[in-house]
Amino acid sequence: MANADKRRILVTGGAGYIGSHTVLALLERGYDVTVVDDLSRGLRHNVPGKRLWEISLQDRAPLQRLFAQYKFDAVVHFAAFTYVDESSRRPGLYFRNNVGGSLELLDTMVEAGVSHIVFSSTAAVYGVPAQIPIPENIPFHPVNPYGESKVMVERMLGWFDRIHSLRNVSLRYFNAAGADPQGRLGEEHDPETHLIPLLLRAATTRQPITVFGDDYDTPDGTCIRDYIHVTDLAEAHALALDWLLGGGASGAFNVGTGQGHSVREVMRVVEEVTGTAVPFAIGSRREGDPPALVADSAKLRRTLAWTPRYSDLHQIISTAWNFERRHATGRRRGVG
Ligand code: UFG
Repeated sequence: MANADKRRILVTGGAGYIGSHTVLALLERGYDVTVVDDLSRGLRHNVPGKRLWEISLQDRAPLQRLFAQYKFDAVVHFAAFTYVDESSRRPGLYFRNNVGGSLELLDTMVEAGVSHIVFSSTAAVYGVPAQIPIPENIPFHPVNPYGESKVMVERMLGWFDRIHSLRNVSLRYFNAAGADPQGRLGEEHDPETHLIPLLLRAATTRQPITVFGDDYDTPDGTCIRDYIHVTDLAEAHALALDWLLGGGASGAFNVGTGQGHSVREVMRVVEEVTGTAVPFAIGSRREGDPPALVADSAKLRRTLAWTPRYSDLHQIISTAWNFERRHATGRRRGVG
């Protein structure tokens, strides 16, 4: 493992959900962290102290000044839009922000002589996979502009590696969920579209959640996903940084547990944790939802010695529930 002391890391999109949990993980490991976020989707209160620079990656000049001011050892790159549905209505927005922003960042890194990057990728690069669990080496087959934008950046990274020796790790996330076990951070998307926070809200507001289809070819008819605790996901970034800074080669890794859970199963655990029945209605299928997405995460476990510690479904939901009760509800009422 590389010595994290004094290593200076730039985290783009560090005010977002996964980015902010990763900033905490890096600080706890002794890295010196600077955050860039344009706050178009991120939240200022997610970034501790005076680490935040409100800069858009599309704005090259301030980014160049930041790279000149700090001598970064590596970058962890989250800054991107992440709504599948929005990307299918506004592809230009996604390509400009996710691909254009990444290109500005990569060029700036090369100019500044920074040659290590961990990139926030997604299982959406696989589309509807023919194989479960999914290994990293199946062909890309994205089915929406969001997934395509991540494929494009992974491909750019391949060329920057070959031509500029920009060593990179792409982490392909499955379903990030849960909240910091100490309750400091949690999931606060606006609008919220993800299953677990919506189930928790349905349990408290008594407004029914719609289950998107129960006629899939799965044991209970609902979709299966690989839920990974955001703190375990954050840890994967720290390990990937250690790997690159220690001279490790470029590569792509799935980040999931290898264990799938159906929507109905998740709902049952939410009911257990909250002690409340979740009101729901069965709706039609959501377009583009694969029946099952489960990671083969052997490569990450083997190469980076990653082991999930919080990703048991009960623990994921308990931490999300703690956060929802202690923080999000208060903020919605304007008292947070
Ligand atoms: N679901 C419902 N009702 C809801 C919301 C979700 O039934 O109100 C179901 C979905 O159909 C899906 C499961 O719950 O089967 C999980 O849905 P999420 O929206 O929480 O997550 P996704 O699996 O759709 O999306 C995640 C990431 C995306 C990424 C995708 C990879 O959030 O960024 O995995 O395919 F692109």
